[in-house]
Amino acid sequence: MALAGAGAVALTGCSSGSGSTPASTSRAVGPEDPAVARAEKRRAVKGSTVTRYALTAAAATVELGSREVATWAYGAAIPGKEMRVTAGDTLEVALSNDLPEATSIHWHGLAIRNDMDGVPDLTQPQIGAGKSFTYRFTVPDPGTYWFHPHMGLQLDRGLYCPLIVEERSGAGAYDVDQVLILDDWLDGTGTTPDETLASLKAMEGMDMGSGSMSGMQSDLLGGDAGDVSYPLHLLNGRPSEDRPTIAVPAGGRARLRLINAGSDTAYRVAVTGQKMTVTHADGFEVEPAEVDTVLIGMGERYDVIVEPSSGSWPIVALAEGKPGAAEAVLVTSDVRGGSAPAPGSRPPALDGRLLAYSDLVAAESSRLDRRAPNVDEQLVLTGSMTPYAWSFDSKPYPERPPVEISEGQRVRLRFENRSDMWHPIHVHGHTFRLGRADTGPRKDTVNVLPGETVEVDFDAVNPGQWMIHCHNTYHLEGGMAALVSYVR
Ligand code: C2O
Ligand code: CU
Repeated sequence: MALAGAGAVALTGCSSGSGSTPASTSRAVGPEDPAVARAEKRRAVKGSTVTRYALTAAAATVELGSREVATWAYGAAIPGKEMRVTAGDTLEVALSNDLPEATSIHWHGLAIRNDMDGVPDLTQPQIGAGKSFTYRFTVPDPGTYWFHPHMGLQLDRGLYCPLIVEERSGAGAYDVDQVLILDDWLDGTGTTPDETLASLKAMEGMDMGSGSMSGMQSDLLGGDAGDVSYPLHLLNGRPSEDRPTIAVPAGGRARLRLINAGSDTAYRVAVTGQKMTVTHADGFEVEPAEVDTVLIGMGERYDVIVEPSSGSWPIVALAEGKPGAAEAVLVTSDVRGGSAPAPGSRPPALDGRLLAYSDLVAAESSRLDRRAPNVDEQLVLTGSMTPYAWSFDSKPYPERPPVEISEGQRVRLRFENRSDMWHPIHVHGHTFRLGRADTGPRKDTVNVLPGETVEVDFDAVNPGQWMIHCHNTYHLEGGMAALVSYVR
């Protein structure tokens, strides 16, 4: 299908959607608008180079501990093989789509050019089965990122991959730099993501009474923990029975880059017997914050520094409010023989000092300057389990009118959660500041608990059409999405 240009931004973000058109005006700055190329030009860095990768998305059989599962994956690996690029350089990824259906790639958290953002029929045409597409863009900011398809429920299969953007000035002071990517897994275990959504919708007619639908509760998440109970939880593609080992030199420092690539699960993460120091939230630097444990919603990232004392220390990522956990083991190089506690232990640190958003203080380099917002728009988080429907302002995508902004403005979005479920809300193309304080951390995804209102501010410096949505894959597919639309 032809890509709608500026002035007629047609889309069907939910692959099962009706294909209706959002209420975009003729003033919309579309992905092919010259303003997009101009913004890209401003990102250019002297002496930059091009980093190239080739990637295939295809059906694959992969080993998960004692079992083999049929799934969809990048390069037949779960997660896809980590990509690294230096900030300011150009990333070029040639994607071949060998899946049985159309796909796209969204570069989660990166403020890149709009026509490379990977939202089908909004920023580019769908990449059909058997087709290919080359993504090419300047990578603006260092940090921990990842990518995934923006089509239907494909993210809840094995299609996800870490993307690490290194500083131009070289690595920081640590001996080990390790991604820990978490995922709630069901594909190939007797049900598919699509069947799971169908059964969530089929509960509509059932009388579930009052109280929790799922029976999965979490105080930290303000009630229901999620909609789906998963048979497996993976860390770097491995179930806890086959947990990976991470070697750290004795007396050394490890930078652990936590990424939640799950679809319906928050993880509470701790390292047995060790403190961790949070240094980055969603890629951006914060003042070091020492805690015992962090809660990480879908789409969020935290970088933490751990300096393990001599020994073998399980890292446990508890599926918050749900059965199961994903695990790894940190082992210092001076350990000879001996063994770590068996999988399934619950380190006391999980119940220790928990990182709160209020602990996150933006480092000097990550602060937004003080400015009154030109746009202040509220989005009410709405929806329910029966019927299974999620939306902003009770208008499932693409019915809610876009938040219209223009280049140069300071924009404030207010997310008011009037549903009974927590939602990790993600904004494309920008990293916002959380809250009104000058020192609020920069993030691109924020958990909004039932009854809460969360405010975020950002500068409108990246023209185009951008999605705001819940990063629960099932809620997104259910319609919990809207647009930030640059207009002229
Ligand atoms: Cu990772 Cu539209 O999101
Ligand atoms: Cu949600």
